[in-house]
Amino acid sequence: MTEQIIIFDTTLRDGEQALQVSLNVEEKLKIALILEEMGIDIIEAGFPISSPGDFQSVEIISKTLKNSKICSLARCVKKDIEIAAEAMHFAKNFRIHIFLGTSPLHIQSKLNKSFSEIIDMATSSIKLAKRYTNDIEFSCEDAGRTPINQLCYIVENVIKAGATTINIPDTVGYTIPNEFGQIIRSLYNKVPNIDKVIVSVHCHNDLGMAVANSITAIQAGARQIEGTINGMGERAGNTALEEIILAIKLKKNSLNLNTNIHYEKIYKTSQIISQICNTIIPENKAIVGANAFSHSSGIHQDGVLKNRKNYEIITPESIGLKNNKLNLTSRSGRAALKYHMKEMGYGEKLYNIDKLYNAFLKLADKTGQVFDYDLEVLAFMDEKEQNTEYFRLEKFNIKSKSNGISSASIKLYCGNKIKTETMETQDGFIDAIYKTFKKITNFSMNFKKIKFIALKKSINTLDAVKITVEYKNRQFYGIGYNKDIITSLIHAMIHILNNIWKSKKVNIILKNLKK
Ligand code: KIV
Ligand code: ZN
Repeated sequence: MTEQIIIFDTTLRDGEQALQVSLNVEEKLKIALILEEMGIDIIEAGFPISSPGDFQSVEIISKTLKNSKICSLARCVKKDIEIAAEAMHFAKNFRIHIFLGTSPLHIQSKLNKSFSEIIDMATSSIKLAKRYTNDIEFSCEDAGRTPINQLCYIVENVIKAGATTINIPDTVGYTIPNEFGQIIRSLYNKVPNIDKVIVSVHCHNDLGMAVANSITAIQAGARQIEGTINGMGERAGNTALEEIILAIKLKKNSLNLNTNIHYEKIYKTSQIISQICNTIIPENKAIVGANAFSHSSGIHQDGVLKNRKNYEIITPESIGLKNNKLNLTSRSGRAALKYHMKEMGYGEKLYNIDKLYNAFLKLADKTGQVFDYDLEVLAFMDEKEQNTEYFRLEKFNIKSKSNGISSASIKLYCGNKIKTETMETQDGFIDAIYKTFKKITNFSMNFKKIKFIALKKSINTLDAVKITVEYKNRQFYGIGYNKDIITSLIHAMIHILNNIWKSKKVNIILKNLKK
């Protein structure tokens, strides 16, 4: 029979404690709700003793959650436990999560206690917490570096005291998979009352082993996995829940395990959390990175077009993404070009693939990535038009004043004419520049994204500004290279405007072709 793995999310506690700027109550509530929507079983909402803000968010979250169980962290300190219980008093069911260092290093150099004092602190804290709830999780902090007999002794005693979940954290990400799996197997072999509790694991990623260690732990019998969305957390982070969840799903036949997760919510959850926490998801991050479902080399693109399974073990749709992506770069082959043209509605009779492919390679060598609208330009415009820059800068004057008002005055060549516009705004100079361009061109664009790229650690080395806008349901990209941020921004905007202009021209050409 398939067994259930409990998914315990600590994004709001272990994840949040690693952020440079703490989240406010509203942001934490938003995260809790999106985690609940994704089907997370237990949400560790915070460490209420740590600050009034944390207390307040745990309280509000405990009032709001309907399906996920709420949990709060506490040290083996009376006040911590009382405050944790108080913060969750609105919830029908809640869990108190108590932790204490158990490794010789933590016991001696962090806590300055004897081993028997540690046992007393742990058991008396559990007994106190039992007054508020039956659901008590006990974490042996730094279990990964705790001698196994010592760990077994503590675990046996905290179970006797009433703990219902025993969490084994590899707090500093020190173990490798066979070592961590062996710890869990030893607990099952040596602790006489281990069958009375759920064994949980909480792995950190210092050696990049968090997910692998968690998998070996569930193979050894652990039934709760702790982690965070996008792997956020102290130092190198925690087990990335999206990775472990998908591994359990994909390996269902060998692991014979299940979760309550609604897989199709994973991508949205990851995106929302990254936006709220202001953390960047690396492009090559497993499952949720921008490149996780995009194929670049010609051989891979051709393989995917023949059968997606050639290079995809998980479908993007299964995590709630619309589709995979075939990046158009100089490594793409004719198959990818034909595919993109077909997706845009252009049969092979409408263009010459050899001519298009040669022009595409030239552009890709120059710009790196080629977009769908570039393909249309290369396929349907003559070379002279392709190289025409309809919009060209004459000059600009941008001001940002201490009274909060910014203004942009831009003089732009539009074909042979010159147009000048000035706009004032209270939303900063980027807004002023953007609105001025909109006024000059009358293009009904929606601003989507801006990225400043400065790779070198020096004050005068801005490398580029990248902008994305949406125009008529299509994304257009512009890039500007200049050390000066305003000049870069203006060049990026003009790049976008020329892309839009060419795309409009292509539409006219295609309409005339049909006549
Ligand atoms: O990493 C750790 O040991 C922890 C405990 C508080 C569970 O985060
Ligand atoms: Zn941790």
